[in-house]
Amino acid sequence: MTNFAGKNILVLGGSRGIGAGIVRRFVAGEGNVAFTYAGSKDAALALQAETGAQAIQADSANRDELTATVADRGALDVLVINAGTLVLGDPLSLESDAIDRMIDVNVRAPYHAAVEAARRMNEGGRIIVIGSVNGDRMPFAGGAAYALTKSAIQGMVRGLARDFGDRGITVNSIQPGPTDSDMNPADGPMAATMHSFMAIKRHARTDEIAELAAYIAGPYGAMITGSMQTIDGGFGA
Ligand SMILES: NC(=O)c1ccc[n+]([C@@H]2O[C@H](COP(=O)([O-])OP(=O)(O)OC[C@H]3O[C@@H](n4cnc5c(N)ncnc54)[C@H](OP(=O)(O)O)[C@@H]3O)[C@@H](O)[C@H]2O)c1
Repeated sequence: MTNFAGKNILVLGGSRGIGAGIVRRFVAGEGNVAFTYAGSKDAALALQAETGAQAIQADSANRDELTATVADRGALDVLVINAGTLVLGDPLSLESDAIDRMIDVNVRAPYHAAVEAARRMNEGGRIIVIGSVNGDRMPFAGGAAYALTKSAIQGMVRGLARDFGDRGITVNSIQPGPTDSDMNPADGPMAATMHSFMAIKRHARTDEIAELAAYIAGPYGAMITGSMQTIDGGFGA
């Protein structure tokens, strides 16, 4: 297991689901881990009690709150930007404000958090953004705005990898396919439809996504940058 002893790690959106899995993995690797949450205080405090990772309330949609939180952590070794929301439905009837908030959390926040972290990140640091295979493929109706947000991450990752590469900082996206969480439960109403697009017809577990994050953040990840690491059971194949 890759060890992160002495590493300063921040996970944005770590109270539940994939983010919580990533917090657990870095804590298991002995990292010094903090994570943010917006609304799920009980889940965040429970994870803090379970793991010893520090829970910080900070809404990624609030740019000042977000960048202050990133800055407060000082020189990071690893920043994982996981916080995301999913708004699906007929674009003709979806609330415009809900779409804009999703764009705030899924696009604006990753950009500003990554740049803020890079201001003081240690040499060889790692910035990992949780995108989605829907950035590559949106095989059903109702997902245009969500796919928009995840495609935007791809361009950002490619560009920031060039901006920070001279300091050995890598910038990558992990693109999960269906992954068991509150956002997308393995036994939810969409599960069978999603599995129909996959070569391996099951939801991923959050620990499978977290282990990929640990690999990218570890010493053998040093030459992986500007890339999309898709972990989707063949959803996008
Ligand atoms: N599950 C999937 O199938 C799947 C597939 C591809 C990509 N993804 C991506 O993976 C990421 C995590 O998804 P998930 O399935 O684990 O979702 P989830 O179960 O809904 O958990 C989302 C996490 O993000 C946090 N979060 C949401 N909005 C936030 C905000 N404004 N500020 C701070 N934290 C916020 C939540 O914290 P609070 O509850 O405390 O607000 C929670 O910890 C997202 O970016 C999602 O788009 C998921």
